[in-house]
Amino acid sequence: MKVLIVGNGGREHALAWKLLRSPQVKQVICTPGNGGTASLISCQNVPLAIDDFEGIGQLALAEQVDLVVIGPELPLSLGITDHLQAQGLTVFGPTQAGARLEASKSWAKTLMHQAGIPTAQSTTFTDPSLAKASIETLPIVIKANGLAAGKGVVVASNLEEAHQAIDGIFSGEFGADNLKIVVEEYLVGQEVSVLALTDGLTIRALVPAQDHKPIGEGDTGPNTGGMGAYAPTPVITPELMERIQTQVLEPTLKTLQAWGIDYRGVIYAGLMVTPAGEPQVLEFNCRLGDPETQAMLALLATPLEELLLACCEQRLAEVSITWKPGVAVCVVIASGGYPGTYQTGKVITGLAQAEAQGAMVFHAGTKTHDGLVITAGGRVLGVTAVRETFDQAIAAAYDAVDCIQFEGAYCRRDIGFRVAGIVTS
Ligand code: AMP
Ligand code: GLY
Repeated sequence: MKVLIVGNGGREHALAWKLLRSPQVKQVICTPGNGGTASLISCQNVPLAIDDFEGIGQLALAEQVDLVVIGPELPLSLGITDHLQAQGLTVFGPTQAGARLEASKSWAKTLMHQAGIPTAQSTTFTDPSLAKASIETLPIVIKANGLAAGKGVVVASNLEEAHQAIDGIFSGEFGADNLKIVVEEYLVGQEVSVLALTDGLTIRALVPAQDHKPIGEGDTGPNTGGMGAYAPTPVITPELMERIQTQVLEPTLKTLQAWGIDYRGVIYAGLMVTPAGEPQVLEFNCRLGDPETQAMLALLATPLEELLLACCEQRLAEVSITWKPGVAVCVVIASGGYPGTYQTGKVITGLAQAEAQGAMVFHAGTKTHDGLVITAGGRVLGVTAVRETFDQAIAAAYDAVDCIQFEGAYCRRDIGFRVAGIVTS
């Protein structure tokens, strides 16, 4: 098989790595890929932008790829799947209609209400004064309706913060066509990422994960794309997963079907598990999470292309999804200053030493230049270790992290703090 992957993050490096471990996959092409995908044997980068649908379609046809896997939400929300499917290509990832699950929070809320899915109370506004006047309790959550690269949500603890967030969104901070907000009840609890595969007929959860969104230790400071993850999280017991399957995943798929949407790809439910143990949906994403995917794929035993193809060909009910024993912990190393401004072009050393510690190093914001690997983004690397216990995996991940250097490198030192000391079987 030949597979084309669209994207250039840690998720896409992990996808390429996992696909190439299968004897069935002979070649992977990444558009545009990164320094990590460039260094994989049998993997080639082609420098096309993720929204260059024409170019990506021509490449996929010329290379006669058997499968195209779309990593990020942006091309999905712009309709890359519709475009490539119209050319006869097999694509893993929802159509533009399905990608609204992530691209429009108000649309996703309507779907949740229609489906009876547990979620925070919310109201959608297109008028800033009405939005401000509606606030009765604090903290309150203000969300830009459309895509905002992980920066469109503010948990406001006072009215001034809430008003600032509303004014920011209506001043076009997240785009002139992103002038709608969702004002939402604040929920407390543990956040978990339940990613599921669907072929439009069946929906099956993968191992549940937890991310660390804020930049600072102890979950402080502004939100990022994710600073570290682990799986499987013990917060999701088998009983709770059963409830999530019947109360969240299946109703979501049924409602998509009822609305005439043939969804084949990932449905990622960002959930808050309340202190009473109730799962509440915070958001849906239409793609694999990053860094969660780096930890999850490190544990997947089933060849990945079997699962992705089964989704595309509506055979998901027939395949088994198996996992390796143990747990995986992924620590992200970022450029100093991220998620604000940061420098790029810094030479990275110690990658081979990190891998020699028995960890996997997936690249996110890197590129190769004159035989060197240099930084090229905010989140630079994800270092994943698989071990028997969380304590062992955390220690192994940090041993590997400590081998890696570049100017201004930053990582949280507390990844996995919620599961430290926990032994799962
Ligand atoms: P979202 O993009 O909707 O997942 O929001 C980004 C982050 O904001 C989430 O990962 C949560 O940490 C936080 N968040 C979103 N909605 C709520 C809510 N209703 N209550 C508390 N925190 C929330
Ligand atoms: N790690 C969070 C996300 O992928 O949205």
